[in-house]
Amino acid sequence: MKFQRLRGTHDIYGKNALLFERVESGARQIFRRFGFAELRTPILEARELFSRALGTETDVVQKEMYEFEDRSKLAVAMRPEGTAGIVRAYLENDLDKTQGLSKFFYLGPMFRSERPQAGRLRQFHQIGVEELGTDSPYADAEVLHALLLFLDALGVKGCTLKINNLGTFEERKTWYSGGLTLYFKNHYERLCPDCQSRLTKNILRILDCKVSSCREIVLKSPSILAFLGDESKNHFSKFKDALNALDVSCLADAQAMVDPYLVRGLDYYTRTVFEISHPKLGAQDALAAGGRYDHLIESFGGCPAGAVGFAIGVERLLMCLSDQAEKDEAHKLFFIVTLGEQALTEGFKMLCGLRNLGLQVFMDFAAKSLKSQMRAADKVKADFVLILGDDELKKNICTLKDMKTGEQKEIALEDAVVSLATEK
Ligand code: HAM
Repeated sequence: MKFQRLRGTHDIYGKNALLFERVESGARQIFRRFGFAELRTPILEARELFSRALGTETDVVQKEMYEFEDRSKLAVAMRPEGTAGIVRAYLENDLDKTQGLSKFFYLGPMFRSERPQAGRLRQFHQIGVEELGTDSPYADAEVLHALLLFLDALGVKGCTLKINNLGTFEERKTWYSGGLTLYFKNHYERLCPDCQSRLTKNILRILDCKVSSCREIVLKSPSILAFLGDESKNHFSKFKDALNALDVSCLADAQAMVDPYLVRGLDYYTRTVFEISHPKLGAQDALAAGGRYDHLIESFGGCPAGAVGFAIGVERLLMCLSDQAEKDEAHKLFFIVTLGEQALTEGFKMLCGLRNLGLQVFMDFAAKSLKSQMRAADKVKADFVLILGDDELKKNICTLKDMKTGEQKEIALEDAVVSLATEK
C-alpha cells in the first residue's frame, strides 16, 4: 500500500532542505545580534491557550485549529502560531521575574486547517521574535529592524511595509460606538454573509475580509486613527520616527505606508501592527506580520506589561528568495573516482582528509568502471572529479578534472589534499 502526504503538508528535501537550513541559521545569527535568545515551546498546548489569546471569534480559532481530546480527555490543539506559547512559557518559567525585559526568537512548524493553495499550507513553518516586558515604541522599531535585516541578509528585495495603530482596547470601543458599527449596519445588505455575522460578533474582522464588495465598504469606513488618544498618537509617531533610523534595502519604498485599515487576523493586537508583503506571493501576499499585544501577559495571569513581536512564514520566504540567493548556497562539490583495490584504499584516505578540511566530497564505494563513476559524478553535478588509478598510484599522482571546462591536471599525491582545499 502506498501512502500519500496529507493535503497542505510538504516533504522538505533537496534544494528546499538546504534553503530551510540557510534561512534558519541566518535567523539565529541576526536575531542573536539583537539579544533575542531561542525559546522552543511544545507543538501541543491546551486548546484554551489559543482561544483566549487569539480570540474565540477569529477564523484561526473558529475554523482552522487542529484540536482534539487526548486519551485523558484533555482539550489540546496543535499550535497555529507561536506567540501564545511564548507568553505561557515566559510566565510559567518565571522568566518575567528573573529577566525583566525578555527577548526571544523561535522557529518551527505551525498548523492551520486552511484551504491549501500556493503559499497557504496546513503545516507551515514560522520564524518569530517576541520582546516581552516593554511599552516602548523603540521596541516596535527594534523587532521590525530585526525582521528587515534578516530579509536583507537573505537578499530579499522589493518588499512593502504597511503599518497601523489599532489603539488600546478602550480606544477601539470608542471607535466602534463612535461610528464604525453604525457605518457597517448602514451597509449591512452589501456585506458578505460572514461579515454580516461578524458585525455582532467581532467587528474588527470585517476589516480583514478579502471579498471585494466588503473591501470597498471597508475603505470608506471611519478609521481608528481618528479615535486614538494622545498616548497612542504619541506612541505611533515615535514608532514612525524610529523607523527612519533602520536604513535597510529589502523594502521597495524607503517609507513605510500607513494603512489605517490594516488589522491582523488575531485579536490580541493593541496599538502597533505591521505587515510585510512581497509581489512574488500573489494572493497570499503577507510574508510576515506582527505588532504589539499589551494585554496578553496580563490576561495570562502575569503583571501588566507590554510586548511586541512578529512571525515570518518560511515557505513564503522561500518563494521570495532570488535565484542568486540559491546559487550562493552552492559549495564546490568534489567526486573521487578510483580504479583498482589499492586506489580505493588511497581514495578513501583522501576522502577523509578532504572532508576533515571542510570540503564537500562524494565517492562511489562500489567503484565499477571509470565510465559508470563519471556518470555518477555527473548526476550529482560534481564541480571537480579526482581520478585515482593504480597506474597513477605507481607514479604517486592523481588527476583532477574540472567538469565545467574539461581541463585536466596532474597533482602529486602528497600535495593533493592541501592543493584541493584551495579549489574550494
Ligand atoms: P500571522 O499573520 O497569522 O501572525 O502569521 C504570520 C506569517 O505566517 C504570515 O505572514 C505568513 O507568512 C505565515 N502563515 C500564516 N498562515 C500560513 C499558512 N496557512 N501557510 C503558510 N504560511 C502561513 C502570527 O502568527 C502572529 N503570531 C505573529 C506575531 C508574533 N505577532 C506578534 N508576535
